[in-house]
Amino acid sequence: MNQHELHDYLEDIPSNESGNRPFEEVLQVSMGRRNLLKAGATLAGGAAFGFSAMAQAGSLTLQNALLGFNEQLIGFTPVTRAQGAGPNPAIAPEYQYSAIFPWGDPIKPSGPAYSLPMTSAKQEQQIGIGHDGMWYFPILDPNASRFGWDALRDSDPWTSGYLSETGVPGYGDLNGVLCINNEYGTNAHILRKANPESLEDVRISQLAHGVTVLHIKSVNGVWTTQESALARRIHVNTPVEFSGPVKNHPMLQNTANNEPMGTANNCANGYTPWGTYLTCEENFNGYFGTDNTTWKPSSNQARYGIVSGGFGYSWHKFDPRFDLANPAYANEHNRFGWVVEIDPFNATAKPIKRTALGRRKNEGATVHVAADGRAVVYMGDDERFDYVFKFVSAEPWQKMRASGESPLDRGTLYAARFNDNGTGDWLELSMANPKLAAAFPDIGALLVMSRAAADLAGATPMDRPEWVTVAPDGRVYLACTNNSRRTATTLVSVETGRSINRATNAANPTPVNNDGHIVRWVESRGHSGNKFEWDIIIFAKDTHGSEASFASPDGIWADPDGRIFVQTDGDQKDGLMNQMLVGDPVSGVIKRLFTGVPGCEITGIAVTPNRKTMFINVQHPGDGDPAASSFPAARGSGAVPRDCTVVITKKDGGVIGS
Ligand code: FEO
Ligand code: CA
Ligand code: CA
Repeated sequence: MNQHELHDYLEDIPSNESGNRPFEEVLQVSMGRRNLLKAGATLAGGAAFGFSAMAQAGSLTLQNALLGFNEQLIGFTPVTRAQGAGPNPAIAPEYQYSAIFPWGDPIKPSGPAYSLPMTSAKQEQQIGIGHDGMWYFPILDPNASRFGWDALRDSDPWTSGYLSETGVPGYGDLNGVLCINNEYGTNAHILRKANPESLEDVRISQLAHGVTVLHIKSVNGVWTTQESALARRIHVNTPVEFSGPVKNHPMLQNTANNEPMGTANNCANGYTPWGTYLTCEENFNGYFGTDNTTWKPSSNQARYGIVSGGFGYSWHKFDPRFDLANPAYANEHNRFGWVVEIDPFNATAKPIKRTALGRRKNEGATVHVAADGRAVVYMGDDERFDYVFKFVSAEPWQKMRASGESPLDRGTLYAARFNDNGTGDWLELSMANPKLAAAFPDIGALLVMSRAAADLAGATPMDRPEWVTVAPDGRVYLACTNNSRRTATTLVSVETGRSINRATNAANPTPVNNDGHIVRWVESRGHSGNKFEWDIIIFAKDTHGSEASFASPDGIWADPDGRIFVQTDGDQKDGLMNQMLVGDPVSGVIKRLFTGVPGCEITGIAVTPNRKTMFINVQHPGDGDPAASSFPAARGSGAVPRDCTVVITKKDGGVIGS
């Protein structure tokens, strides 16, 4: 098993032994439900998207009719299965792409050019590796102060309309700040060796992780980085600060080097209506380790999958901050697993870890403004048998911002329970819940161990919740990527001998769910309530054998017209590379827009305000091995493959996805 495979394997050790919902009868209930859905799928051709005709679909149909969409919502000619079989990328014939901003290119033109072997001095000024979630923040007006954002910053620009309608028309479509998460790169890929042999090697790896902030411009369709004060790297050693209820909590304090530093395993993302970027720390556990054979994980550490060997990065051999047995850094692990807010327009502002949102292996943090003006954040905890979370700010976000308070610092955290009958409950994770008040000394400890709080509250163990998106009709979509360990019955853990409920439930009804599914729900009270109604819109394996074939949905993003973009990370069937598809939940149409190269996943999505430019990412092409892929260099060239962004435009200048 190479380090990439080890990463995939270990990131998903089920650490949830809470045994929530041990119901034998659920299998029957869920299978009944599933058969109903399958019947719908057959009617729609066996590969349709959103086939359960919920009453709410009417509003979207009406909206699309008014906008002149309907059949034309996804008009392009899909990449066929044969075309999408690699080894080179394929794109729909009406579209074009180019690969830009690869790992190791300088973040501004004056920086050091890419060359191997990598050094820490170079990597610190270069684009990181493992391109994942990202967002594009348009710069609106070349003449305005502070890049034109101040006037818009608190005006809810993203939800009240697209930004190029304000400021200089179109300027923001060609000039903006692109924030790219750099999730991970293996030692074999970055260092070209299995293990670090010095602190310098560890620093190179640490500097390749984190976030890359680029100021980019397009001239004649070519995007380039700019010599700009906005360009910066945020990495494992960047000073950061904590905010919210856990700030100053004893569980975040170390006796050595107590300044909080760094962000790691930055997976998916979010963006706020006040114009900031959210980067989400996922498999942070993989970077901690120890050679001390007497070390044993605490229950908190075990719940987050912290093991002595980590994911094989071996940072702990040269950097004591990541040595689990070093008492001076006893709480370092608690400083990771958060949603981190970054100001893309102020390169000197420290990233802020927003602790009110809770600690977990965050996939993403999708912000939606509720009907009552409060900021709602949906978060998947990507692990087998872990949960979906929601945070609701205490007051309308504009009111909180006006009084100098972050909407992400005060509010209520919930975990989702999907009931068998299609209803759902958001279970409050606070000291107001007597069960939680009895288990945790204070709200700070509860938020640090938000997984354990959700265990106690009775949340539903899911099949690896990845991205969440909110469609223009208000419905929420969740990609459950897969769960090969879902079983029909309760098992006994080989690790601990404890009984674990890995049984199917209504929202995760597939034993050995190798291909994943997409769950959708409708929120109560305009997203700020504690009830919802849910459904499963597609099981990926039902697409296999059809032209819409896909597996392991991961990235998911709804555009303002109602198109649902789906990106995959896993073993595709029917000979396909990992890919990006576009679905219309009204007509059920699914079309393949782009396919990648061997060994890669497709992840990350960002658009310019007019949506005529889309950025996506090709992560770990060839798993770092030139024998598998040299992308974006020519296949067979022997060049080390480099994670990169792919910019997509339509040849006729149309909206991406149309
Ligand atoms: Fe980083 Fe769950 O994908
Ligand atoms: Ca992902
Ligand atoms: Ca994934």
